[in-house]
Amino acid sequence: MNKTALVTGGSHNIGQGIAIVLAEHGYDVAITYNSRREGAEDTQKQIEALGRKCFIYQASLEKAEVPQRIVDQAHKDLGGRLDLMVCNAGNGGFRGSILTITPENVDEVYTVNFRNYMLCAGAAARHMVADKIEGNIIFITSSRAEMAYPDDYLYGGFKACVKRATESMALDLSAYNIRVNCVAPGATWTPRPGREDLVKSPFVAESIPLHRVGTPRENGEVVAFLASENASYITGITVRVDGGLILPGMLEGHDKIPWVREEWKKDQYEKAMAMIKENAEKE
Ligand SMILES: NC(=O)c1ccc[n+]([C@@H]2O[C@H](COP(=O)([O-])OP(=O)(O)OC[C@H]3O[C@@H](n4cnc5c(N)ncnc54)[C@H](OP(=O)(O)O)[C@@H]3O)[C@@H](O)[C@H]2O)c1
Repeated sequence: MNKTALVTGGSHNIGQGIAIVLAEHGYDVAITYNSRREGAEDTQKQIEALGRKCFIYQASLEKAEVPQRIVDQAHKDLGGRLDLMVCNAGNGGFRGSILTITPENVDEVYTVNFRNYMLCAGAAARHMVADKIEGNIIFITSSRAEMAYPDDYLYGGFKACVKRATESMALDLSAYNIRVNCVAPGATWTPRPGREDLVKSPFVAESIPLHRVGTPRENGEVVAFLASENASYITGITVRVDGGLILPGMLEGHDKIPWVREEWKKDQYEKAMAMIKENAEKE
């Protein structure tokens, strides 16, 4: 029997990348979209071309009753079996000053980026426990869960909540050998109005140690790995897929980011070559 997965927000960008990679790894998949059905149909077409099943559902996951309904529907359509729940649908939502925060600002970010994740996880875990499936729950968080940015206390804050919740959930569900992990993308190539310049800018290439933004597929491959038998002893962790984005910290002593300075690279390279030569001469 094929493995099965539900990926929320599988209609575009990272969620679409995850759903397609899972189908390549042999999963039948169910995906949700919110407002743009054409993206979900595109994912479905690509998955069916791989010979796998793909079910699509409209889901407004900010509504409290929707996660349970969607998980139940996916469980039914996927043949009464759910091996993998991927909570991906989220949104940047409100960004702005704490000085002018309103209850509506908090709810807008909380309902989609935290409550929805917890309710989908609970509904999926109940099916796994009832069906005796030693499955996986994977949350898509963000490198922003670990690194602070201005005006980002809600989105970054709730992503951090998901990371922490994952650890407790991993403890609770270990009783059933259900594993719970997070994948944390950094800046990812997800075209949308207003982002084209950012992802192609030299600033991005200079700021990210691996010189580029990530791709949805790169996140999908990590999800597939974490859900696989190859990761059978991994639970409660967060894997950052960010090209080293949040590693640098303060670059004391460097007037410019070192890994993009030609003279710095040349100096490092020449020192390494000299060391190889010196070691060879000793032998
Ligand atoms: N892109 C990045 O650089 C980046 C970096 C770090 C983390 N992330 C995280 O990765 C995940 C995916 O990001 P993305 O950039 O691929 O997002 P995206 O392009 O905006 O796609 C988001 C998906 O979630 C759905 N969605 C949005 N609001 C929803 C709601 N209220 N109810 C149900 N579904 C909803 C969208 O459906 P419709 O399109 O149909 O509305 C879409 O399928 C998010 O959790 C995000 O926080 C992204």
